Amino acid sequence: MSTTHPSADGEHTHTSIEDDVVDPAHIDNLSHETRRFAPSPTFADAAFAKADMYEDAESDRLNFWSRQAERLSWTKRWDDILDWSNPPVARWFTGGELNVAVNCLDRHIDNGLGDRVAIFFEGEPGDTRSITYTQLHAEVCQAANALEALGITAEDRVAIYLPMIPEAVVAMLACARIGAVHSVVFGGFSADALASRINDAGAKLVITADGGFRRGKELPLKPIIDEAVQSTPSVENVLVVKRTGGEVSFNDIDIWWHEALAEQPAAHQAQSFDSEHPLFILYTSGTTGKPKGIFHTTGGYLTQAAFTHAAVFDLKAETDVYWCTADVGWITGHSYVVYGPLANGATQLMYEGTPDTPHKGRWWELIEKYGVTIFYTAPTALRTFMKWGDEIVAAHDLSSLRLLGSVGEPINPEAWMWYREVIGGNKAPIVDTWWQTETGAIMISPLPGVTATKPGSAMRALPGIAVDVVDASGDTTPNGTGGYLVLTKPWPSMARGIWGDPHRFVDTYWQRYEKQGYYFAGDGANRDLDGDIWLLGRVDDVMNVSGHRISTAEVESALVSHPRVAEAAVVGAHDDITGQGIVAFVILRGQSKEDSTTIGEELRKHVVHEIGGIAKPRHIMIVEELPKTRSGKIMRRLLLDVAEHRALGDVTTLADPTVVQLIADGMTNNDED
Ligand code: WT7
Repeated sequence: MSTTHPSADGEHTHTSIEDDVVDPAHIDNLSHETRRFAPSPTFADAAFAKADMYEDAESDRLNFWSRQAERLSWTKRWDDILDWSNPPVARWFTGGELNVAVNCLDRHIDNGLGDRVAIFFEGEPGDTRSITYTQLHAEVCQAANALEALGITAEDRVAIYLPMIPEAVVAMLACARIGAVHSVVFGGFSADALASRINDAGAKLVITADGGFRRGKELPLKPIIDEAVQSTPSVENVLVVKRTGGEVSFNDIDIWWHEALAEQPAAHQAQSFDSEHPLFILYTSGTTGKPKGIFHTTGGYLTQAAFTHAAVFDLKAETDVYWCTADVGWITGHSYVVYGPLANGATQLMYEGTPDTPHKGRWWELIEKYGVTIFYTAPTALRTFMKWGDEIVAAHDLSSLRLLGSVGEPINPEAWMWYREVIGGNKAPIVDTWWQTETGAIMISPLPGVTATKPGSAMRALPGIAVDVVDASGDTTPNGTGGYLVLTKPWPSMARGIWGDPHRFVDTYWQRYEKQGYYFAGDGANRDLDGDIWLLGRVDDVMNVSGHRISTAEVESALVSHPRVAEAAVVGAHDDITGQGIVAFVILRGQSKEDSTTIGEELRKHVVHEIGGIAKPRHIMIVEELPKTRSGKIMRRLLLDVAEHRALGDVTTLADPTVVQLIADGMTNNDED
């Protein structure tokens, strides 16, 4: 299952779940972890979510969700809680109407909370803003008016390509306010990746910035947009936020954001939208080269984002200072920087830059400076800090922290314990939260005031959520063994589809356990003897690099689009810091005598150009041949053995068993890692 030149994005149809199926019997069992950490009685007493929430949800799941929906403000109440008559496309709170931006802003102001800070912003160069709910509302209203003045309506899509600055939040909420669907593209994606996302959604407007600050430098964004819009016929205008003040070229479709907003009143009469009105599209990698536009709708999404933000993070909106380090370009930024916290009237910190600028203690300095109480980040960041050393952390007073969260990939027990001891001062509960772009909100997590947590386990499904671990035929696996993670009942924030491709939605998630009607998450999991869940990572060809999802096929597609590449196979090899690192095996076209380091470097750059920096291969190995079965399928597992420097597995099914040994010898001879 490799990608062969030439290939149009996404047209090769390998896939992989079937090819690369993991036998649950081979999923390692079990972490022999016996440590338990119960919340303190004080924490437990004051907690938002108590133990009875499980029974409550269990006894009447739909009414449980209905009560959570009541935490929002609706202009028209729903007729039915759930319509599951047309699976796998759910409709939640049917007939209900609401406006997401009104829920995130206006209603707090109406409740007298307008002067509460919504966002403490800290730019990487050290510039700061603190934005109250009243101020955020005014800016969102101006932006909503500006979008309408540009002809954007509830029928349109708007692409957002911004750094981590408050305008990103304003842009998203302005879209939501007028019912336009936003598609936020992470600022690290290349012009090509951006253009293909804009085209897939048919976005009429792009909101971007001149640039942002990253690692002490200005990172220009405008030139990337300029390149992208060369091939995006749907784009009529580009709104440009002035962030760095750097030199930019301006074309006739470009408009300065600050000028467009200045012309508009700071009030906007918001209309309500149907509970199932689309809210956003977010592209994520799957098992083919073509990213899929996961789309989410309004009422159910906001209900679960707000509920989980309150319950999992135990939010006390009056006193907490919450910080989620995710970029708005990912689902975590959507649900736990924008929609969840703002729907709950939280005060949060937003930081533009990298953790090591201007020094490696920047995050801890910020926690001290703002008195952050709830902190949500990714294991890859924690492992990086562990490597940098405890002294850096010890230089700061982190005693304000009362709750810690983890997301994006399995957290190893060592990193978990370090998080607890060094960051959390041995007192703050840790919530390891499992979920996905497709689930929209947290699905598996401890309840911090209830659960006695185990280092490395996401524990169990949240109240109102139904998960199982099953074998290949869909039967529940016994405790103490492993299998595939499935979601067995619809949930409010579930994706409603893949934009423009309903079949792919069915094929990817629902076909595998069609008989049972289960959602197949693509993750392997163990359930221990207590029934607690330990996530094991992907079972398909999706890599997880620093908590970012990248498909092997996407990187293969990028590689074979280079004229010198004949064939490429990519695997995600274990990496102590980033979880996985990308290792590519490449066959060049024609005779090659050149230095493999030179071409390797060129190909790495090419992948960055095609997809973006997040997909840069850690190692590219030029090979003469790839190990294939007699039917021509690449033996990825063997390549993984090579990439991870393991003894080679079973090679008897190979057409030519010597090939892989040759590759393995080459790997040890010129290892760059
Ligand atoms: C994949 C989803 C959810 C926001 C960030 C990533 C992995 C996510 C955990 C966790 C183990 C996790 C899974 C999942 N993942 N959280 N707590 N423990 N694995 O969103 O890009 O949609 O990726 O990330 O493999 O399927 P995403």
